[in-house]
Amino acid sequence: MNGEAASLRIRGSEIELCVRAATLGQDVLDVGKLVASDVFTFDPGFVSTAACTSALTYIDGDAGILLHRGYRIEDLAAESNQLEVAYLLLTGELPTASEFEAFRHSVLAAQAVPAGLYDVCRALPADAHPMAVLNTLSAALAAFEDLAMDMADETARREVAIKLIAKMPTLVAMALRHQAGKPLTEPEPNLDYTANFLAMVLGNTPDAVVVDAMERILVLHADHEQNASTSTVRLSGSTGTNPYAAVSAGIGALWGPSHGGANEAVLAMLEEVGDAEHIDAFLARAQDPDDPFKLMGFGHRIYKNYDPRAAILRASCHEVLESLGTVNSPLLRLAQALEKRALEDDYFVRRKLFPNVDFYSGIILRAIGIPSSAFTTIFALGRIVGWVAQWNEMHRETLKIGRPRQLYLGPGPRAFVAMPDRA
Ligand code: CMC
Repeated sequence: MNGEAASLRIRGSEIELCVRAATLGQDVLDVGKLVASDVFTFDPGFVSTAACTSALTYIDGDAGILLHRGYRIEDLAAESNQLEVAYLLLTGELPTASEFEAFRHSVLAAQAVPAGLYDVCRALPADAHPMAVLNTLSAALAAFEDLAMDMADETARREVAIKLIAKMPTLVAMALRHQAGKPLTEPEPNLDYTANFLAMVLGNTPDAVVVDAMERILVLHADHEQNASTSTVRLSGSTGTNPYAAVSAGIGALWGPSHGGANEAVLAMLEEVGDAEHIDAFLARAQDPDDPFKLMGFGHRIYKNYDPRAAILRASCHEVLESLGTVNSPLLRLAQALEKRALEDDYFVRRKLFPNVDFYSGIILRAIGIPSSAFTTIFALGRIVGWVAQWNEMHRETLKIGRPRQLYLGPGPRAFVAMPDRA
């Protein structure tokens, strides 16, 4: 037994378990042996369950701390960039200058997607939601790729990870251009990763302020340990499916308003609130147990403190809007007033509900010209790095298919009744 001993007394017998030590944060009770005693754990929503080990990302939700491979998100957002964070998450270390250059070169060289994928995109309805387009394109990419790979081969996994990180900006740009009814664009390998993405979306070379703002947004979304979409990528990847299919499953999970779809919902909510004088009515709705409305961009399963990403974006919002000459944006003022009122409200204080990453990101994205219905595709663009890094980490271990159990509450065995005899 490796770790502190623990025991569980059930139905008169004692089951010996062990506590596995974390390098940071909570230790976990290893319940893997329970099955031998014919009993499972029940934990809907996985609120008390770790499904894997990981050395990528650490969150201290009470203190509002987020680390990637031990590096603070505040330092990465200020000093680093998305490709460097991708290298860090994939390999465990920050790259030297030559390592970074080689990595950057291999990503930039792999950004083009097959011509047939452009035909797939054009065949989709003009008013399709950008997340539907992105999900289709990422799944369709599998149809154009050589899927024969040995998942245990580290080099093959790294190559496919680079391909996915490289092609995601192209796919997201295609989704955005399709939505705008504009001709689809191709990557420009002479531009850097983020500048190239924006150039594909906007159709021109973007302003440095806009590139910096987008870079920060991507870094802040790069990884967030075992969130719903990442867990979906892992669960789906655990079957040995190809990584394009696993990522496509993750995109589907990200779309929901409780997860990545919240950034789109925040803007819709702010527009519905419209004016500071309506804030109290919306806060009252959010507290009404009979109203499904929630304050979008507020609350988090892990953070019971200010989400550090939201704090960075709040400051970034000011800087970006100031540089773009729109710092007096009514939307920003309304968001700040809403945040202030919510943080003073006993309901939110008692439940430790703070702004999350989605609260301010939409205001920046809108200021740089991204329509709100496409916000979640930007989240996916940032998160592709975490998805492939987690998928890669998972395949380093002997693969065990993810297969949760259930507490069965249905009927017992009964005799089949032929249709004419049914009441
Ligand atoms: N507005 C009003 N009440 C809330 C909110 C909110 N945004 N979030 C949580 N609560 C209440 C919830 O009703 C519950 O109250 P009670 O104890 O009276 O039943 C209590 O706070 C605890 O919440 P929970 O639903 O048990 O928390 P959870 O961990 O299951 O859900 C969440 C987390 C993020 C899904 C939820 O806070 C939420 O729906 N927030 C709004 C959507 C949102 O902003 N999502 C983005 C999350 S961050 C980006 C990402 O990682 O995807």
